[in-house]
Amino acid sequence: MANNTLIVGASGGIGQALVKQYAQNSDHVYAVTRVTKTDSDMPNNVSLHSMKLQNDAAISEFLKGLKSDGIALSTVVITTGFLHNDDAGIHPEKRLEDISEEAMAQYFAVNTIIPSLWVKQLVNVMDKHNATVICLSARVGSISDNGLGGWYGYRASKAALNMMMKTASVEYKRRLKDTMLVCYHPGTVDTSLSKPFQKNVAAKKLFTPDYTASQLITHVASLDREQVCHFIDWNGEVVTW
Ligand SMILES: NC(=O)c1ccc[n+]([C@@H]2O[C@H](COP(=O)([O-])OP(=O)(O)OC[C@H]3O[C@@H](n4cnc5c(N)ncnc54)[C@H](OP(=O)(O)O)[C@@H]3O)[C@@H](O)[C@H]2O)c1
Repeated sequence: MANNTLIVGASGGIGQALVKQYAQNSDHVYAVTRVTKTDSDMPNNVSLHSMKLQNDAAISEFLKGLKSDGIALSTVVITTGFLHNDDAGIHPEKRLEDISEEAMAQYFAVNTIIPSLWVKQLVNVMDKHNATVICLSARVGSISDNGLGGWYGYRASKAALNMMMKTASVEYKRRLKDTMLVCYHPGTVDTSLSKPFQKNVAAKKLFTPDYTASQLITHVASLDREQVCHFIDWNGEVVTW
């Protein structure tokens, strides 16, 4: 059986690094992004699929295309995530009064709803044995680990993503053999998402996207597949829900 990988959000900082590293140990990598550019640096076994709007219809059309070509996916990494947008005036909330309808809707749309639509439809395209679906989550989405407060929309939407993954893992287990779902905290990674929040991060704790991609690949490969859903960090340690 071919070893096919799908990366959703392939133009993001972490997404680009994942595409390149998965290309080294996959037969083929499907890279989905909103961006239309093609990267001439891409290895030959990577195909780029531009999807401007990631809604049910567009996701369904793309995955039906794979299925009708007889392609099953062994590994999927959904990197889609959103934290701030200067143009839209959206920044992580510091206090209750900062909560806004527009920002909340955007956090849930990108961090929870888009990954949920992928997970919903992927169940029909994953390999019947040993499939792995990974979502880039964040430690701040852990309810038990929340001592600092703030960042209401980002925290809540990542906590909702975690719950969606945990819930979906029960059904994936029923429908696919030896399946595993993973919520992954990459640490603080030097990308546009973390840029405004890097100044208090020690240099050795600010990871490159390449290091992040290789840590993810290493740690996911050594997880216990008997456990159907995991929440782990960049060091392979369990994050409490
Ligand atoms: N960087 C960190 O320190 C850090 C820490 C903890 C968790 N994370 C998580 O890691 C993931 C990757 O983040 P990153 O650091 O690589 O940030 P990034 O460079 O900003 O990438 C964000 C990704 O989300 C996608 N995205 C953003 N808005 C979208 C929208 N409206 N519709 C569809 N896709 C959208 C982008 O896909 P396109 O390819 O289509 O542009 C891109 O792949 C995120 O889920 C983030 O929450 C990052």
